[in-house]
Amino acid sequence: MSFLAKLQCYSGNHDGTDMKIEQLGAHNAYVVRFEPELLDELRQSYLDQIKPFLELEDHQKFLVGGEHFSQKMDGNDDYYLTTYGRYPLLWLSTNTPTCYALYRQFLDTLAIEDHIRKLIDHDKRLVMYCGFMVVGNQAPGENWHVDYYAGAPAFTLMTPLFELQESHRYLRYQSLDGTQTYRYELGEAIIFGEGFTHSTAPYATTQELRVLISITFGTDKLKYWDVIEKTVGAQSKQIMLPCGHWRGQCRCLNKLSIRAQVIARKILKRLSGKFR
Ligand SMILES: [Fe+2]
Ligand SMILES: [Zn+2]
Repeated sequence: MSFLAKLQCYSGNHDGTDMKIEQLGAHNAYVVRFEPELLDELRQSYLDQIKPFLELEDHQKFLVGGEHFSQKMDGNDDYYLTTYGRYPLLWLSTNTPTCYALYRQFLDTLAIEDHIRKLIDHDKRLVMYCGFMVVGNQAPGENWHVDYYAGAPAFTLMTPLFELQESHRYLRYQSLDGTQTYRYELGEAIIFGEGFTHSTAPYATTQELRVLISITFGTDKLKYWDVIEKTVGAQSKQIMLPCGHWRGQCRCLNKLSIRAQVIARKILKRLSGKFR
């Protein structure tokens, strides 16, 4: 089935409103359901580019933890590989515009933009910063954290790429009533923003890999880049900035800082006039 046909058939399942998205309790977190076929292109990307790479004996080191890796994948520019030291989890980030587009296309078909836009300060639209495959086969302990710093108008989406085995299904999160558990389901994504404290529920080493899709996205206002960058800035090599330019090819930030300098100079001038 073509991508468009799938999208039309999916749209036919509901009345065109954003009723598929539901808030998770009173948290800054939402759950959205979709037809798993919408993951087909991403699944193909995994099967063609990531699975064969991870089957090589020499690449098992990327899954065991204990070492920080940040490197290209041999013969593949589409993804960039990162691990964060001690914790055994492998992050493969979109590293070409083509690969980025696959994730953006998936995000768009969820049709959540209208809903999410109402939640955050923005100018016109949502920007996807980066897409990831998150691959692991063990979670030795809890790893409590929030994804974003206070004031960041941005979200993380997480969803399984394939049917998950039972031990891989659990995400823990904090609420006023204590620790709660969210169960990952194929065809359902969880979306959460600042203040949502969460951790993968620990699980023992498995034969099968646990593969999740993760997407970071949010405001198109560049003034928030400072606070968003604290989270997403080091997660990937290629990243789309809120202004819609790739990092490294954007001059808006320079303009912004020049504007800030001009304003600061004006204020100083005014102040020095006052105290003269
Ligand atoms: Fe997280
Ligand atoms: Zn820019």
